[in-house]
Amino acid sequence: MITLGIETSCDETSCAILENGNKIRSNIISSSLAKHQPFGGVVPEIASRHSLQAIHAVYKTSLSEAKVQSNDIGLIAVTQGPGLVGSLLVGVSFAKSLAFALDCPIIGVHHLEAHLAANFILRKKPKKPFIGLIVSGGHTSLVLVKGSSYEELGATVDDAIGEAYDKTAKILDLGYPGGPVIDRLAQEGNPKAYFFTKPKVDGKFNFSFSGIKTAILHLVKGANGNQKRSPWKGKKLKDLCASFQFAVTSWIIEKTLNACEEKGINTIVVGGGVSANSRLRKVLEQECHLRGYEFFIPPLSLTLDNGAMIARLGYERYRKGFRSNLSLIANPSLTFVKNSR
Ligand code: KG4
Ligand code: ZN
Repeated sequence: MITLGIETSCDETSCAILENGNKIRSNIISSSLAKHQPFGGVVPEIASRHSLQAIHAVYKTSLSEAKVQSNDIGLIAVTQGPGLVGSLLVGVSFAKSLAFALDCPIIGVHHLEAHLAANFILRKKPKKPFIGLIVSGGHTSLVLVKGSSYEELGATVDDAIGEAYDKTAKILDLGYPGGPVIDRLAQEGNPKAYFFTKPKVDGKFNFSFSGIKTAILHLVKGANGNQKRSPWKGKKLKDLCASFQFAVTSWIIEKTLNACEEKGINTIVVGGGVSANSRLRKVLEQECHLRGYEFFIPPLSLTLDNGAMIARLGYERYRKGFRSNLSLIANPSLTFVKNSR
């Protein structure tokens, strides 16, 4: 079966063609990143306008690269939420129009669930239950995936981990997005140079990342006085990035392993943009290896928002009997639990 996956929840516009749930024939991504850079973060109106302008060409390219015709499409999967409402509306409206024109089934899927599903395109899906760790620019959640239900064990009480990377990078004048650049600098710095206190949060599997950003702001302001630009450069900057990265990834890893231990689970599945992080990938894999746990993390090409993960989740759910129809609506705050059965 040929599944078209459409993703427009934030600043990426993506269409992918997936064959039988495990062969990516194309995965085209148009990013509006450069247009947001002057503002130091995603501007929702710019993101939705970009999607509107890009989606038709992205769709056409996904077909031609995959060497399929529109009539070959057997299922259309689209991100229903969560995300930016304007961007979501573009994808959902495009998907519904196409489903109507092609007389083809349509299914709306949950963006975060799809980040986990990205793992199962190229590798056999693990037996449930497993612990899902979702780390992205907008979300940080630990979920227990059991049968076909999702139990959220914990989530961030303030900033998402990707947001903490992005805001810290802004304080340090490193541009947007902050994750890749901090990760790169961190690899050349001393992770023990600065110590950041582990935040105390209610709920043992909840996270908090706003305190570390404020601590860094104070550190930098202390050295910076009233100057606008951060004077931190060279080794000092690399050490700060390494110490920040060491702290936030250690907190995440510790809670994920604690969740496995407490729930008696020995499989971890990670998804979301921050799953590209070098330390998170390396250390979590080592820890899983030591404990004999199965560990899933997507290849780098599938860590950021993409249509292939949407197509994969849509395909799985379609085979389980789920269907949407043309009354499907974008839901910017779609919850995990309600969307699953
Ligand atoms: O999943 P995603 O593409 O978008 C959302 O659904 O939010 O994630 C984007 C986030 C950004 O915050 C970006 O800074 C972060 O992923 N990111 C990273 C790395 N690469 C991207 N964070 C840490 N280390 C990285 N290597
Ligand atoms: Zn995402």
